[in-house]
Amino acid sequence: MRDSESVREALQQQTAQHLFPATRELLPFLSDIYELELALAENVLLDDRELLANGAYFARVGGEPTRHFLMSTGTPLKLPSHASSRLKSFFEKNQFRTGYATHGLFPYRGKFHPQMVKGILNAMGLQAGDTVLDPMMGSGTVAVEASLMGINSVGFDASPFCRFMAATKLSALTMSIDRTRRALPRYQDVYQYFRKKVGLPARGTKLRKTGARGSCCLMEELGGYDAERDGSQASVEDAFIDTHNLLLLAYLDSAGYCERSTRKDPVTQFGAVMERYVAVVDKIRRVLDGMESVLGSASVHVGDARSLPLDDGSVDGVLFSPPYSFAIDYVENDSFHLDYLDVDQDDLRGNMIGLRGRALPEKYELYRQDMDLVVGECSRVLRRGGYCVIVIGTNDSQLSKALKLPREEVEGLHQVMTELAERHRLQAVRSIVRPITGMSNTMRREYILFLRAV
Ligand SMILES: C[S@@+](CC[C@H](N)C(=O)[O-])C[C@H]1O[C@@H](n2cnc3c(N)ncnc32)[C@H](O)[C@@H]1O
Repeated sequence: MRDSESVREALQQQTAQHLFPATRELLPFLSDIYELELALAENVLLDDRELLANGAYFARVGGEPTRHFLMSTGTPLKLPSHASSRLKSFFEKNQFRTGYATHGLFPYRGKFHPQMVKGILNAMGLQAGDTVLDPMMGSGTVAVEASLMGINSVGFDASPFCRFMAATKLSALTMSIDRTRRALPRYQDVYQYFRKKVGLPARGTKLRKTGARGSCCLMEELGGYDAERDGSQASVEDAFIDTHNLLLLAYLDSAGYCERSTRKDPVTQFGAVMERYVAVVDKIRRVLDGMESVLGSASVHVGDARSLPLDDGSVDGVLFSPPYSFAIDYVENDSFHLDYLDVDQDDLRGNMIGLRGRALPEKYELYRQDMDLVVGECSRVLRRGGYCVIVIGTNDSQLSKALKLPREEVEGLHQVMTELAERHRLQAVRSIVRPITGMSNTMRREYILFLRAV
């Protein structure tokens, strides 16, 4: 038997005490090694003031709460009363990872963990005033997170729906929520307005548009919903567009729920989503109003990552997550929304990386060729010495079936990306592994690849 006092001493050891100064307190619920790795980088690179403003993994510095802590706590995110206890516990556990700012608006598939994005932006050495590029921005997680950190960003996605989502989440950081809040008691009218305009969610089946056509230029569209005009014309128009787009996103979000489940009727579902959107925007506004913060500017566009309209060496960092070869069909997933935006889905499919080609081996070959172009573009627009970070999951089992190869012989996508990167003067500096949990997910691991432009 070992000496009882040594056992007591061993049990009292705490990892954080060995890694961080006593003045820097980690957040609760930090449980994965990759989080600790990113926290270590933050601890080395950021001084106290920077850690308070932009740290992703710390709750307090010298007893003072960090901005990330304040943003993620306070009034908990409003969940509908019928939310399952599984969902409630998910939100509680992920309070610091995903449940803050406007990230919770619209559940886009394959979306980044915002807290991880913040940690990565810090580990890349980016600071307020620098510019980061996300060439495949999806729902705009990098743009929103960079803005909150005072970092400027430019984002592209082949899908116009992604641009709409990203732009709406960005404007929700600064918009006034009064108009939307006033409309809350009339959520049934709002629902009817969008139902006529966008179409009817067919319950429990794929959505099909009926009735009035949508407009292809949403941002310019003012529609007819109860514009209570006051104040100066320009800002009223802006506020109206922001309100319209937030409500439209809420409608599309609730339509997605109805597509997946028949548990709630569409009107009640919409009311619950609208209430949650109001709470989200209200909360981030209150947090930002109470802080001395300058948001980074963000511009988001429809564009092709294989050919970026940016000058050589014009960005300080690149952070993105490409499609994991053909794992998700983004066009099919967003078909209803794209239809509303009058997007020709066959055309879009022809530009979507991972969806081009017929049989799976051909799709995979085209995927590799396309990603070669994307990585080449990232290297071209990145200034020398800057970091390009690619987050990629490895779908070995899907690929082994598609390529008819034993699983051990399938080259992981992270290896493919590293090889492509080396060809384009991006040197692999570090790779951090992140486990993917969840029974339904066939991917077990994601890699955060840090590549330096040399
Ligand atoms: C894994 S998702 C990115 C998700 C994003 N990180 C987020 O937080 O929401 C990959 C994205 O690549 C986009 N994409 C596919 N082909 C593209 C292309 N040629 N150019 C730009 N984006 C493309 C898809 O539309 C999809 O949104």
